[in-house]
Amino acid sequence: MSILVTGGAGFIGSHTVVELLNAGEDVVVLDNLYNASPESLKRVEEITGKTVKFYETDIRDRKGLDDLFANEKIETVIHFAGLKAVGESVYKPWEYYDNNITGTLTLIDSMRNHGVKNMIFSSSATVYGDPKVVPITEDAGKGNVTNPYGWTKWMLEQILTDIYNADKEWNVILLRYFNPIGAHKSGLIGENPNGVPNNLMPYITQVAIGKLKELGVFGDDYPTHDGTGVRDYIHVVDLAVGHVKAIEKIKENVGLEIYNLGTGVGVSVLDLVHAFESANGIKIPYVIKARREGDVATCYSDASKAKRELGWEAKYNIEDMCKDSWRFQQKNPEGY
Ligand code: NAD
Ligand code: WQD
Repeated sequence: MSILVTGGAGFIGSHTVVELLNAGEDVVVLDNLYNASPESLKRVEEITGKTVKFYETDIRDRKGLDDLFANEKIETVIHFAGLKAVGESVYKPWEYYDNNITGTLTLIDSMRNHGVKNMIFSSSATVYGDPKVVPITEDAGKGNVTNPYGWTKWMLEQILTDIYNADKEWNVILLRYFNPIGAHKSGLIGENPNGVPNNLMPYITQVAIGKLKELGVFGDDYPTHDGTGVRDYIHVVDLAVGHVKAIEKIKENVGLEIYNLGTGVGVSVLDLVHAFESANGIKIPYVIKARREGDVATCYSDASKAKRELGWEAKYNIEDMCKDSWRFQQKNPEGY
C-alpha cells in the first residue's frame, strides 16, 4: 500500500517525501506544478536514491484522480496541495476557494469512492486567529481569520470534521503548522518563492544574497520583548518528520485528531535577523515599517500533544534553520 502526497513537489511536500522514502514507505506524488518545479522531485530522488512515482494532475481534475486511485493502491493521503499566499488570496478569493475547497472536496469524493478514508491534512496556526493565550493548545478554539487563504484552512478543517462525523470509517489528522523555514541539509531542496517573498525568512535570504536591498520590519510597537512580531519558526525537516509520525498514528485508526506542529519557542523578527547574522556571518540591513495588516503580535505553540501522542518533537534550533535556509539560497540563487 502507498501514501499519496498531494502537493508533493512543493516546499513542505518535497521534504516530507524524502522523510517518507527514508522511512521505507511507498509514495505516490500528485502535483499540478502550479507553484513547484519538477526539478524538486529529481532532487528528492538524488537525496534518497529512490525513484518517485509522479502524477502531474490537478486536485480539481476528477477523472485524473479517479484514474490515479484506480491504478495505485493508496492507503492514506497526505494533502498538501493548495494555494498559500495570504496577500494574494485577498485579491483572488475565488481562485483560493476554488483551488483549495473545490479541490479538496473533489479529492475527498474520489477517495471515498475508492474506499480510501485516511487523510492527513495541512492546516495552519492561522486558524487560531489572534490567540487569547500563548502558548496555543489545540483546544484553544478557532478564531477569526483575516484573509481568504486562512478561511480555506478554517473551512476545510470543518468540512473534514463533518465528513468524519458522518462516516466514522474515516481517520483524519489535522496538522496545524506554525512557521516552517529552513531546508534540507543537502541544500538541494528548499523554499522557492515566486517573485518578491512575502514571508520573513525567504526575504532575509534574498537580502543576504543581494537580490533585495533591505528588510522591512513590519512594526516595532507590538507588546513583545523588542516590539516586533513573535512567531514559532519550525525547521521544515522537523515538520516533515511530524508527517511520518502522523502516518504511524493514523494506522492505529485514530478517528479525528488535531496536532500543533511547532517548537513551542517564540522568536521575534529582530531575534531571527540577529540569529541569521550570527549563524552565517552576514549583516542584514533593515528598516522599521508600519505594521502589516492582518498580523498578530504573538503566535507560538504548545506542541506537547504531538510529543505525548505522536512521539514527535522538533529537534532543530533557530541556528540550524538559519544555516540551512542560507545554504539552499546560496546553492540555488535563481531557485530550481
Ligand atoms: P507550496 O506552494 O510549496 O506547495 C503546495 C503544492 O501544491 C505546490 O507544489 C503546488 O504546485 C501544488 N498545488 C497547488 N494547487 C494544486 C492543485 N489544484 N492541484 C495539484 N497541486 C496543487 O506550499 P508549502 O509551503 O509546501 O505548503 C504546503 C501546504 O501546507 C499548503 O496546503 C499550505 O497551505 C500549508 N501550510 C503552509 C505553511 C507555510 O508557511 N509554508 C504554513 C501552514 C500551512
Ligand atoms: C513572520 C513575521 C511579520 C515579512 C504566514 C501566514 C500563515 C502561515 C505561515 C500558511 C511577522 C514579519 C514578514 C517581512 C516582516 N502560512 N515580517 N517583514 O505572517 O506569521 O504567517 O506564513 O498557513 O498563515 O500568515 O509569517 O513569515 O509572513 O511573517 O517584518 O518582509 O515577520 O510581520 O511578524 P506569518 P511571515
